[in-house]
Amino acid sequence: MSSDMSTAGVAKSYDRLAPVYDFVFGPVFRAGRAESIKVAEAAAGPGGRILEIGVGTGISLPFYSKDTRLVGADISEDMLEVARKRVTKLGLTNVESIEVGDAENLRFEDESFDVVMAQYVVSAVPNPHKALDEFARVTKPGGEIVIATRQGAEKGLRKGIEKTLMPITTKLGWRTDFPFALFTSWAAKNPDVRLIERKPLKPLGHFALLRFEKLAKQAEAA
Ligand SMILES: C[S@@+](CC[C@H](N)C(=O)[O-])C[C@H]1O[C@@H](n2cnc3c(N)ncnc32)[C@H](O)[C@@H]1O
Repeated sequence: MSSDMSTAGVAKSYDRLAPVYDFVFGPVFRAGRAESIKVAEAAAGPGGRILEIGVGTGISLPFYSKDTRLVGADISEDMLEVARKRVTKLGLTNVESIEVGDAENLRFEDESFDVVMAQYVVSAVPNPHKALDEFARVTKPGGEIVIATRQGAEKGLRKGIEKTLMPITTKLGWRTDFPFALFTSWAAKNPDVRLIERKPLKPLGHFALLRFEKLAKQAEAA
């Protein structure tokens, strides 16, 4: 998918949104976040390590079981500042770090997380396939990539409206036209991953929860 977006431009948009983000987007995505946290926790298991990429203001962090170990990364310093204050205020000792990081270029070692969680972020990234490659790289074999994402209409009037809105929404830091085919085409060229669930999320089914399993390595033929 070609993109007019730049990572620096997206970061600037979210820097501006940071003071009001929780107020504006807190309630809209609440149900979807709850659903994806449940799924991510189950996949990680007790003591599991989860990378929350696009952690933003850390709005999800208090809702994970204290059994999980969490690393939060995001490109917006101002969003992260809110997240750091939240972690301190709530004493979230299961949060290992909150750091600047680009989904397309993660600093983490291969296979370092049981789960990579990306809530409402992949459609805000200039090169979604590059980000998905990174998620797969840092996920342990047998682990999962859990994604809550914008789900564009496949056809009809809504699709037309979403396309028309793109020049505006990309300037604000996200895409309205974001087809599911983007994920299937990525999985098709990636033998290490398999889509194991796709489920509509509130509000209005304009969003979806996707789970990809990172496949365990096959034993080398002798
Ligand atoms: C719509 S917000 C979602 C925040 C949070 N996950 C939530 O559930 O509300 C998108 C977040 O993704 C971050 N983001 C956008 N592009 C990114 C990238 N390339 N790498 C890491 N984070 C990114 C933004 O800065 C913003 O905090």
